[in-house]
Amino acid sequence: MIRWLVYICFVLIGYMPITFAADPPRLEIQPEGATIEKSVDLGLALICTPKVENPNLITQLEWRDPRNRRIETTDSRAPLYIQRAYGEMTIVLIFTKLTENFAGKYTCAANYATSEQLVASTTVKTIIGITWVNAPESQYSIVGRDYKVKCEIKANPEPIVNWLKDGEEINVTNSNRYITDQQGLLIKKVRESDDGVYTCRAVVFKTGQIETRNIRVEVQIPPQIKPMQPVEVVEGEEASIICNGTGKPPPAFKWIKEKTREDLSVVDRFTVKKNTGALVIHRVEFNDDSFYKCVAENTAGINETLVKINVLVKPKVYEFWNITEPVGSTTKIICKAQGRPAPNISFRKLTKTDPFTDGPQPYDPRIKQEFTRNEEKGETIGILHFNKLRRTDDGLYVCIAENKVETAYKNGHITVEFPPSFEVTENYPPVWSWENHPGNLTCIAESIPNATIQWKFNGIHIEDNNTQNIQRYGNGPISYLIVTPYNDHRFYSQYECIATNKLGSATKFIELRKATVPDNIQHVRPESVTATTIKFNIVGPSNFRGLPIRSITVQYQTERAHTWATAKEHIWSYNATYILENLVPEQVYNFRFAARNDVGIGGWSGDQQIQMPRRSVPAEPKLIIDGQLPDVGSNYVAADLVTESHYADHYKMQWTVPNDNGDPIDSYIIRYCVTQRVNGLWRDSESECSGEIIQSYQHTTYEMSDLRPDTTYKVELRAHNAIGLSSPAEIRVRTARGLNAIVYETEDPTISSATIIGIVVGAILLALILIDILCCCVNHAGIIALIYDQVHSKPVDDEDAKLGRDEKEPLKSNVQEPIIVNGVDKCNMSVEYDGKQVYTKPGEIIGKHSVV
Ligand SMILES: *[C@@H]1O[C@H](CO)[C@@H](O)[C@H](O)[C@H]1NC(C)=O
Ligand SMILES: *[C@@H]1O[C@H](CO)[C@@H](O)[C@H](O)[C@H]1NC(C)=O
Ligand SMILES: *[C@@H]1O[C@H](CO)[C@@H](O)[C@H](O)[C@H]1NC(C)=O
Ligand SMILES: *[C@@H]1O[C@H](CO)[C@@H](O)[C@H](O)[C@H]1NC(C)=O
Ligand SMILES: *[C@@H]1O[C@H](CO)[C@@H](O)[C@H](O)[C@H]1NC(C)=O
Ligand SMILES: *[C@@H]1O[C@H](CO)[C@@H](O)[C@H](O)[C@H]1NC(C)=O
Ligand SMILES: *[C@@H]1O[C@H](CO)[C@@H](O)[C@H](O)[C@H]1NC(C)=O
Ligand SMILES: *[C@@H]1O[C@H](CO)[C@@H](O)[C@H](O)[C@H]1NC(C)=O
Ligand SMILES: *[C@@H]1O[C@H](CO)[C@@H](O)[C@H](O)[C@H]1NC(C)=O
Repeated sequence: MIRWLVYICFVLIGYMPITFAADPPRLEIQPEGATIEKSVDLGLALICTPKVENPNLITQLEWRDPRNRRIETTDSRAPLYIQRAYGEMTIVLIFTKLTENFAGKYTCAANYATSEQLVASTTVKTIIGITWVNAPESQYSIVGRDYKVKCEIKANPEPIVNWLKDGEEINVTNSNRYITDQQGLLIKKVRESDDGVYTCRAVVFKTGQIETRNIRVEVQIPPQIKPMQPVEVVEGEEASIICNGTGKPPPAFKWIKEKTREDLSVVDRFTVKKNTGALVIHRVEFNDDSFYKCVAENTAGINETLVKINVLVKPKVYEFWNITEPVGSTTKIICKAQGRPAPNISFRKLTKTDPFTDGPQPYDPRIKQEFTRNEEKGETIGILHFNKLRRTDDGLYVCIAENKVETAYKNGHITVEFPPSFEVTENYPPVWSWENHPGNLTCIAESIPNATIQWKFNGIHIEDNNTQNIQRYGNGPISYLIVTPYNDHRFYSQYECIATNKLGSATKFIELRKATVPDNIQHVRPESVTATTIKFNIVGPSNFRGLPIRSITVQYQTERAHTWATAKEHIWSYNATYILENLVPEQVYNFRFAARNDVGIGGWSGDQQIQMPRRSVPAEPKLIIDGQLPDVGSNYVAADLVTESHYADHYKMQWTVPNDNGDPIDSYIIRYCVTQRVNGLWRDSESECSGEIIQSYQHTTYEMSDLRPDTTYKVELRAHNAIGLSSPAEIRVRTARGLNAIVYETEDPTISSATIIGIVVGAILLALILIDILCCCVNHAGIIALIYDQVHSKPVDDEDAKLGRDEKEPLKSNVQEPIIVNGVDKCNMSVEYDGKQVYTKPGEIIGKHSVV
């Protein structure tokens, strides 16, 4: 193309008429001008033409380069060559493609008419546009170090470069952290905040060219690993160790065993988590105890740290022997245990809660505990010393091996040997035998080891079952001798039991005694007699030092019988309450007594004749107060006693069935009155009594209800049979302070609806009563008048008058409202019999007259 242009030029130039003959000879360079500026990469042709009158006189027309060397190349493939035209009259310098190297002053020279030297020159300047020589768009800096953001630009003329960070201009002069130079922007001591997009902007004023380049600068942080404390892992278990390393970009981790330089990521038992830095040991082995290196690496650098992994081992008792030693010896038990760290050892007797303390025991300095640890071998030996072994030291002991991982236990025992003794059976009673009943001589020897037992009788060894009278069972440590004397008195004697073991022997004498029936009973006295029962006081045989008495037998018959053969018999166990029942009233009986033991029944004695009293009213019932009977025979106490009810409005009475004195009890009569203590004496309020309440004989309880709170009641209870009423059992009961009372007392302004109803009903009742009273007074009509009439017209009971019944007795006079309506008649009936009660003590006959 360039060549083409050149030809066109030549053609044009060749036909131009040469009309400058008058001018001085010179050389003309086209394009004209002292300087030619041309962008690189373009082609350029410099044409040198002599301007002379006679061009034929021109010789040596040539181009010289900036170093004044003649350019001779005519090869059109060269970057720079010459070409002649018009019969050598024009010389053209051709740059096929301009580069910076070609910049400089080029001179065209020629000789004219042999004497004149013609010279012309022109300076070629190359222009270079803005080009990015070294300005990568992604760059990486490392925190803490200086970093130059590379932006190397090539341009001619020189450009002006300025910088922006994340779109904002950096004032380099303003800051001492930035320095700019040809290669770029130097950032001193890079910080994490320097991360960002930097814009390198170049401007060439002369050409007005402007170019920008965005450079992403990433600040990287080399791995940082926290120094690690030694890690403790337990043998046999899984362990996980974290290498706490950070960096930007996040580092990759490696674990290396220091000693062997093994990379653990390829070892089976280990797992290395490349991203988190975790090292997992799947089953810790004893030999894993070592130093390990954690290596963290990222593009910014590499870091490593050393960590000690301590392998702990659970303690294990591997030796703890049982020992057997004689009493009084000095001995020790040894317990050996392994573990890492070497465990502490202590001992505990299995029966105790606390282990022994190190050194001598404060309460028993005979026993001393100690242990020695060998940390290197991971072994501890514990010793429990016994000085003068005692029998109480015998037993199971636990060896306790403890380190910070775990505690291990193992049992072992100390067997304390001791010579035979008979301590346990020392106080056994003598052995008895009679007739064909054999004596069982038991000999139990305590000892360790077990003793063998031999028996001696009259100084002779009982070898085997050598007589028919003696049989032997067992050789030890327990042996029985069964002796059957068959009335041969020689066998009632002392037997010798000899127990022997390797530490010694001991002898125990056991006496076989002949047992007999008990002696006669010493003394019998009737304690209390009712119409049908007798309670005896019996004092057994006196100087009997034999078999225990089992029972007492009584025989009894009516006085008319002449032989004991037909007598009735009753057997009490010894020391029972000797009560005989179901006797016939008014009958006369003969009694005799005998004691019995395992041998048989003793002689008869204590003969008695007793006439049974006649039938009478029942005995006084006994009230149970707070679940207990009051002291026997303390009726006075009961009457004077005030018991507390747990409730404000009711009280449950309870009593025991009294003796019926020959006639069955058919009912109980209950009555209670409000009572008050005035000057230390109880005064019943006659107007506030209940009626007589009849409770069936099947019951021994009665619940008093609708009582007033905080009030004392006198309660009377009588038992009734066909003959009459018993004397009254009395108690005083105080009801609890009730809630109701408080409600009535405090005049609470907020009255409940129930209260309102109560008040209304009360008011109506009061009005009715007032009307009634008015009627009574004025007209002698109404309920009050009726009651008044009835009371005054009631005939006086003859029987009562006869018996001189106390007029004040509430039973009669103030019965206003019998609680059990049905019982009113019965009440009257019982009143008839009342006062005919005849005896309270057996034997004393008081009865006035009998219905029977
Ligand atoms: C840069 O800072 C210097 C000194 O503080 C100040 O004179 C100059 O005007 C600032 N240039 C720009 C472009 O803000
Ligand atoms: C490794 O990390 C530690 C702690 O983070 C740091 O002090 C040390 O300079 C780092 N070493 C290298 C070589 O980066
Ligand atoms: C690593 O170190 C950091 C910074 O102290 C802490 O917050 C993090 O809990 C550590 N991680 C582990 C697994 O120890
Ligand atoms: C100790 O005796 C117990 C039973 O009394 C037994 O189980 C244990 O094996 C014995 N120990 C040794 C070490 O013989
Ligand atoms: C072991 O005994 C020593 C004293 O003898 C005591 O300081 C230590 O705490 C004990 N170690 C354990 C694990 O009980
Ligand atoms: C002898 O008495 C013992 C208990 O002391 C008993 O175990 C044993 O069986 C008795 N022997 C005979 C033959 O009765
Ligand atoms: C010792 O005697 C007891 C009781 O008879 C028995 O149980 C035990 O097995 C005996 N011991 C030996 C070692 O014979
Ligand atoms: C004595 O005789 C009894 C039974 O007749 C028998 O069981 C026992 O073993 C005998 N004793 C000896 C020491 O032979
Ligand atoms: C019987 O009672 C008396 C006195 O209370 C007492 O000494 C004796 O040991 C008792 N006997 C029996 C076999 O309970």
